[in-house]
Amino acid sequence: MMEYSAQAASRAAAAIRNRTDAQATIAVILGSGLGGLSKKMGDAVRIPFVDIPGFPEATVVGHEGAVIVGTLGGREILALSGRFHIYEGHPAALAAFPVRVFHALGARDLFVSNAAGGISPKLAVGDLMMISDHLNLMGTNPLVGDLQAGDTRFPDMTDAYDPGFRRILRTTAEKLGITLREGVYAGLLGPSYETPSEVKMLRMLGADAVGMSTVPEVIVARALGMRVAGVSCITNAAAGVTGAALSHAEVLATTNRVSAAFESLVTEFLERTAVPQLSPAR
Ligand code: HPA
Repeated sequence: MMEYSAQAASRAAAAIRNRTDAQATIAVILGSGLGGLSKKMGDAVRIPFVDIPGFPEATVVGHEGAVIVGTLGGREILALSGRFHIYEGHPAALAAFPVRVFHALGARDLFVSNAAGGISPKLAVGDLMMISDHLNLMGTNPLVGDLQAGDTRFPDMTDAYDPGFRRILRTTAEKLGITLREGVYAGLLGPSYETPSEVKMLRMLGADAVGMSTVPEVIVARALGMRVAGVSCITNAAAGVTGAALSHAEVLATTNRVSAAFESLVTEFLERTAVPQLSPAR
């Protein structure tokens, strides 16, 4: 018996179906401070986590705690405002559970976002970084346990971040005049930020940015065969890079400053990846 199983996801999906007639094929996970995007959604139905079986309440400041069903970029989407972190004491399978629920609702594509510390000298505070790959340094994996219906036991993680989506993100940013960096996201457990020595280690391992989320969601998405796109908002220089102390307040101040660019990038990406509806034959 697993708590965050495919069956549990079907139950959660049914609760959402009771409130909406969601047909979305894409889901968007909004990272710390990036939840404002959900305010831009049309015909939005907000379903608080407490109303979804299997979802505990979100507790992190800057995270609202709701699934929002509505439209953006001319299409229907499912959005997650607030997420479950392993550092809150949650199992990795719960961190990724919303992805299972979105898949059960019909989503086949996933857009993930997060706040992250910049390690690479090519990254400045306030940059948006397209995630090209990740390092799972969380010490756990959301697929540990019984194989779930619909999952691949040993999912391939080559091109976990879909190359087609990466191309579209690049051209979208170019068109909008948004500088979009690219890099490898290292996912760590947290909740303490890294030491300067740990950041040095991460740099040697090939990480460009570091955060405490996203990896579980992407792993489950890949186990379910979903296509993934990801963007990190570089909210601060990682520990030791500038010598300044880190704070969650700085993280939220930066996401606030960058949210307009982030929102237009996501909106335009959604427009460009929509499958045109076939008009009925006459
Ligand atoms: N480290 C880990 N997680 C983070 C950071 C960081 O520097 N910034 C935002 N989330």
